[in-house]
Amino acid sequence: MNPIIIRQIEQMADEAMPAISVLSNSIAALYWSEEHISWAGIYYIDENLDAWLGLFQGKPACMKIPAKKGVIGACVQANRPILVKDVHSFEGHVACDATSKSEIVLPLYKDGKLKAVLDLDSDKEAFFTEEDQNSLTSVCRVLEKSAFCVTL
Ligand code: SME
Repeated sequence: MNPIIIRQIEQMADEAMPAISVLSNSIAALYWSEEHISWAGIYYIDENLDAWLGLFQGKPACMKIPAKKGVIGACVQANRPILVKDVHSFEGHVACDATSKSEIVLPLYKDGKLKAVLDLDSDKEAFFTEEDQNSLTSVCRVLEKSAFCVTL
């Protein structure tokens, strides 16, 4: 990930702005940071572990990902980031967008509980790296400050 974008997101979170404005701009900053990011957004996890579409940038996406399904379900079950270099070889991948070739999903915590995920898709195979996973993990800690201004 472009380090300038990471810094921008951190700076936005420091400003005394409404959380929804910070969150919206943070998602937009991620989406527009790289040409090959085809979708960026948040899914909220309910008490049944179903995932529900939140703020995003990109094409309209699946509104509900049922519990344990897809890369999101794998992230929720494993309680850790899931980096998928080739979505076609990931069993159970939920294809909301046919152009998606690789994906990364990371947990967002509220009061120590996994309550949402950050999901990024790319139209390029193996686009996201382990290094991206590390920087996006830091981004998640920042996003948690604003992500829960909206509820299901
Ligand atoms: N591909 C995800 C579903 C959400 S979209 O990428 C926006 C999954 O397999 O969980």
